Amino acid sequence: MNLDSLALRLQNDQLSILDQQLLPFEKKWLTVKSVDEMITIIKALKVRGAPLIGVAAALALADEARQKKYSIGQFQQAAERMRQARPTAVNLMNAVDRVTAAAKTSDYISAVWNEAVAIFHEDVELCEKMGRRAAELINEGDGVLTHCNTGGLATVGRGTALAAISCAWEQKKSIHVYVDETRPLLQGGRLTAWELSEMGIPYTLISDNMAGWVMSQGKVQKVFVGTDRIAMNGDIANKVGTYSVAVLCKYHNIPFYVVGPSTTIDPHCPSGREIPIEERAPHEVRGVEGSFGKVQWASPESQVYNPAFDVTPVDLITGIVVDGDYFSQTDLKAGALRRLFN
Ligand code: MRU
Repeated sequence: MNLDSLALRLQNDQLSILDQQLLPFEKKWLTVKSVDEMITIIKALKVRGAPLIGVAAALALADEARQKKYSIGQFQQAAERMRQARPTAVNLMNAVDRVTAAAKTSDYISAVWNEAVAIFHEDVELCEKMGRRAAELINEGDGVLTHCNTGGLATVGRGTALAAISCAWEQKKSIHVYVDETRPLLQGGRLTAWELSEMGIPYTLISDNMAGWVMSQGKVQKVFVGTDRIAMNGDIANKVGTYSVAVLCKYHNIPFYVVGPSTTIDPHCPSGREIPIEERAPHEVRGVEGSFGKVQWASPESQVYNPAFDVTPVDLITGIVVDGDYFSQTDLKAGALRRLFN
């Protein structure tokens, strides 16, 4: 069986990923031979984006179980190590839980494999649904600002927030995208700018601290972002900097929309306060590193705080598109997400 997407492939029984650390200047596919290799790859953000992390984790577990003919005990240990790879994107835990639950059948290796493949196909479908529903919120002539990367590189389909943008473009709406570069790891500048130029969608790259000024000039009519975890009360975690964008939207009266699949909802998380926020290494803030080279501008002794995500409270969110459905702030506050799990 073959599976194909922008950043993850399964061909002739070999799982490989596009090294996102090297984009946009180098396109290098890495073959992933074990769960522990995939864990290292996820930690290094060579594979990133909440839905893609979930799919990659499930397939790596299923592939290793199949190749090494694991016992159930070995599989469960590998699943536990995989769960710890990154703490915020709940798609990882949801995907690991799904393949672990599938492992409870007699022919567990095939069951796990089938579940991992189902997770892949489901992500493609959910991206399409989200993109179409969220594109309805975009009008002809809109300037749309987005943060981080939420496209085909963050999923195995067409993305979350970026799918809204590409669907609107496909519907022939003339739009212009403002891309936050997304410090410290530059997912906007390196990855979203690349995806938009590949699709021929007009965009302008700005550094994160320009967003407020660009909004004050009337260039932005809507903001669309993805999410790494949606809490039951409608609070969301996403790439650090998202909260600042939402605060700016409030001041400038700009709708702030979140787009995510149901696999990003955490039914066990009552509010944003309970979402674990990943902290990363200080060197990521003291400089930058990628296929463009390595620069360090702060002294190695500089004290650094490097949270990879922040939480945007529901009060700042105009609405969330989950799969094919739209939930307004009023719906979210009235417990619409809780009802999905009852
Ligand atoms: O640290 P990253 O690059 O994995 O962070 C990704 C994001 O924050 C995305 O916005 C998020 O995963 C949702 S979009 C698919």
